[in-house]
Amino acid sequence: MKLFDVYPLYEVTPVKAKDVYVYDEKGTEYLDLYGGHAVISIGHSHPHYVRRLSEQLEQIAFYSNAIQNPMQQELAEGIATHSCLHDYRLFLCSTGAEAIENALKLASFHTGKKRVIAFNNAFHGRTSAAVAVTDNAAINAPLNQQHQVTFIDFNDSAALKKELQKEDVCAVIFESIQGVGGLDEPQAEFVQTMETLCNQHQACLIADEVQSGFGRSGMFFAFQQYNIRPHVITMAKGMGNGFPIGGILVHPDIKAKYGLLGTTFGGNYLACAASLAVLEVMEKEKLQARTLVLEAYFREKAAAFPEIKKIKGRGLMLGVEFDFEIATLRKALIYQHHIFTGGSSNKKLIRILPPLTVKEKHFDQFFQALRSVLDEL
Ligand SMILES: Cc1ncc(COP(=O)(O)O)c(C=O)c1O
Repeated sequence: MKLFDVYPLYEVTPVKAKDVYVYDEKGTEYLDLYGGHAVISIGHSHPHYVRRLSEQLEQIAFYSNAIQNPMQQELAEGIATHSCLHDYRLFLCSTGAEAIENALKLASFHTGKKRVIAFNNAFHGRTSAAVAVTDNAAINAPLNQQHQVTFIDFNDSAALKKELQKEDVCAVIFESIQGVGGLDEPQAEFVQTMETLCNQHQACLIADEVQSGFGRSGMFFAFQQYNIRPHVITMAKGMGNGFPIGGILVHPDIKAKYGLLGTTFGGNYLACAASLAVLEVMEKEKLQARTLVLEAYFREKAAAFPEIKKIKGRGLMLGVEFDFEIATLRKALIYQHHIFTGGSSNKKLIRILPPLTVKEKHFDQFFQALRSVLDEL
């Protein structure tokens, strides 16, 4: 049987990975500044992560959500300690898109309304409502287009107000740092206006932290620099360091009811063990604080490159913008210099989303390779 061919693939076959490196079947070492799309948070196959998951596997890997699983409560407490959002409630699922579906569904249940405001260039996933609030017509099937969604620009307070005044909006969903869209951020004042207007018009504010959450931006959640309290916060990627786990944090104003949400796999023992291991390593190795040190180092090194027009993003969620399209540059970085980076819908920008364990010497290696590729272009 052949695979359903939906991914354009690079000619690399990783068979092993350790910390910030990935190895192919011939033993070639690749520096991973992409983190498998911002997923690898504490480094590939971190010894503590491997131990915790292996030990859990020996005990119990899975049972349904019909029984008591104290590991879910332990994880809720861990997330509360790291985020300081002690009064929010945790619901666990398995992917980013599933977290978005649950966030939107909850907003609709809570408000009794169904239109959503999303932002130009947003990416929230590929399932039903998640893809409908994603700004990419090519991946929206007619089925998905049934959702009622209005896209506006970041920082357009007048448009936001006009839409919310129609009183049919259940949610405003935003990324504090756009991922796939190319690292753009809303202004602080606009984020605060979103919160105020959502409260005035009984709409839920959803912060999509699937990519920016779990310490990557230098804060536990990127929205936390704005001093707002979203109704729902979505998370996934870095949460499990590669083990599929996602979740939402729900504001105390939104009440739970049996049957409101549900999932077979969400919150299973292995997923909880993976995420607890992530939090334990983050704390022990002070990874969140380190992201800011590394960001400063990256920006300083980048300043020596006249070809770089702008560095976007925060912490270890960065975009390097050039004034030319970067497809050839990324290929040269992978095939000649064995360095993974990410692309985005902005064709002139490469994304830097390394494991949070990355060190200055890895950025030195990147900039050396970049110099060499730019000189050859
Ligand atoms: C901000 C954001 N939200 C949601 C998603 C969807 O997550 P998943 O691919 O796990 O469904 C992504 C994935 O890239 C994302 O970047």
